[in-house]
Amino acid sequence: LRDLAADLQRPIRLGTALAAGPLLTDGAYRRTAGEEFSMLTPENDFKAQFVQPRRGVFAFEEGDTLVDFADANGMQVHAHTLVWFEALPSWMRAEMTHEDRRRVMTEHIRAVAGHFRGKVAEWDVVNEPMSDEDEDYTNGNRGVRPHLWFDAMGEQYMDIAFRTAREADPQAVLYLNEYGVEEDGPRWDALYALLIRLKKRGVPIDGVGFQNHEYAADDRTDPEAFRRKVRALAALGLKARVSEMDVLVGEGEEDAQARQFAGKLTVCREEPNCTSFSTWGFTDGYGSTADIRNYPPSPGNALPWDAEYEAKPTYWALRDAL
Ligand code: XIL
Repeated sequence: LRDLAADLQRPIRLGTALAAGPLLTDGAYRRTAGEEFSMLTPENDFKAQFVQPRRGVFAFEEGDTLVDFADANGMQVHAHTLVWFEALPSWMRAEMTHEDRRRVMTEHIRAVAGHFRGKVAEWDVVNEPMSDEDEDYTNGNRGVRPHLWFDAMGEQYMDIAFRTAREADPQAVLYLNEYGVEEDGPRWDALYALLIRLKKRGVPIDGVGFQNHEYAADDRTDPEAFRRKVRALAALGLKARVSEMDVLVGEGEEDAQARQFAGKLTVCREEPNCTSFSTWGFTDGYGSTADIRNYPPSPGNALPWDAEYEAKPTYWALRDAL
């Protein structure tokens, strides 16, 4: 996959989420990842809960393992993630003043993006800023999720986060990453309006990642709806990427899965501002029992390779789409 993607007239990166654990213990996992992908996203190993378990105490060993693997295999690292409302160590969730909350966020960004400066190509600076609650789309929050960071700083938490990340690693391409915004609807509308506000305020955001977690039975599968979003971003001067694609299907639905993956990859290949296409893991073999992957809930039939590293129809459809 990575070679086909590199040979395109306009090359893109083919990526996947990886975990340090199985890289060390599972040869087939290691081999497939290194041969097939040119970009990796740390599935969990860069998250706040793991890299800053106690205030001011940093743990980069697993993260560094992933960076070293990327290096050894000519892959770029799409780093994930600096500011999120999940995967936080408990000390970060504790009651504190707004001022302290802000300091915790900026210190985290400086330390983590600083550690990986020059070693990663991109960052998800802000992950999942949009709300799941209808009321947040009518009550003045403008669709932005009212979590602890928002509570302390308002929407400006994003401005501060992107500015701090830019300072900490000036070369990195900075992304906002979100789910459920591939299709038309209020969630996309609110994100689009947010992006316009961010651009107006001169916030150093470079692009948007569309997670693309899909379920065969749902209707979030129209590649043309996704194409319109990618083009809307181009008009704002922003890049786009497919950041975490998986398509959870039942037995016998592998062809539908293959079509959905290929449809999104085709859009990414065709739209000039789409930089990479990443899947959220690559083998069905790791479930929540292995504690590295439980999204979507496993055991799942959601990815291009089965549990025995046999390529599924999705793998061949991705090749064909390149
Ligand atoms: C998920 C991981 O895959 C799980 O192993 C972990 O338990 C929870 O987080 N959107 C994101 C990812 O941005 O960070 C999430 O990853 C999946 C949804």
